[in-house]
Amino acid sequence: MTYSIRRMVKEDLEQVTEIDREAFPSQWPPANYKQELQNKTAHYIVLCDDTKTVDVPAAAPPKKKLSIVSLLMPWTRRKQLEKLSSPTVTQQYIVGFSGIWMMADEAHLTNIAVRQQYRGKGLGEFLVIATIDLAMQLKASFMTLEVRASNLIAQNLYHKYGFVQMGIRRGYYLDNREDAIIMSTDSISSESFQTQIKELREALKKKVA
Ligand SMILES: CC(C)(COP(=O)(O)OP(=O)(O)OC[C@H]1O[C@@H](n2cnc3c(N)ncnc32)[C@H](O)[C@@H]1OP(=O)(O)O)[C@@H](O)C(=O)NCCC(=O)NCCS
Repeated sequence: MTYSIRRMVKEDLEQVTEIDREAFPSQWPPANYKQELQNKTAHYIVLCDDTKTVDVPAAAPPKKKLSIVSLLMPWTRRKQLEKLSSPTVTQQYIVGFSGIWMMADEAHLTNIAVRQQYRGKGLGEFLVIATIDLAMQLKASFMTLEVRASNLIAQNLYHKYGFVQMGIRRGYYLDNREDAIIMSTDSISSESFQTQIKELREALKKKVA
């Protein structure tokens, strides 16, 4: 399989929201990615399975009036209506996404998720590396995040990529009042951090190949 990463665009909202709802079913309030795309501090990326496409509902076409011809000759109307409605468009199949908010020189990882049937193959790691690269491009000095105390899978992933626990926000999550673990990296441009990422990147290439 081959995968690629690119910036999230508005045409991705349908699939991204679907992945978000699957990954965070109890999250309240639910994330609003349409708003996030308009947020200047937010930067999101999507991970696509390049071997697959998906048909998603097309945005509603601008309302057009039926032509006089179709009003006079009703048998042409059906064809014209079919053409106007164009119900789906074919898109790249998105299997995961992640995003950061840039606040001064801090890149705050807001979300990361991989479709359930694609988990456990190194794609979460792929996204973490791409998110660190993005933070570097945006001149962040370090990265931070919050993760549910019960989410040990995500915590393992973050530990692997140099995040360490900095504190706890008691009752942070509104749905069940669960605590959030605050995690942060060292300087992401430091030699030690970059060496660690380089090694993990190499190991991942073999894992995902
Ligand atoms: C967290 C998530 C993105 C990980 O994605 P993934 O593609 O399954 O993860 P990977 O296959 O890249 O695994 C990377 C690391 O994560 C950890 N991990 C993944 N699955 C794990 C599991 N079942 N048990 C324990 N650790 C696990 C390990 O540290 C693993 O590294 P390893 O293979 O060297 O042990 C994915 O589980 C997900 O979408 N979860 C729901 C959303 C979520 O919780 N996001 C985090 C919000 S803070």
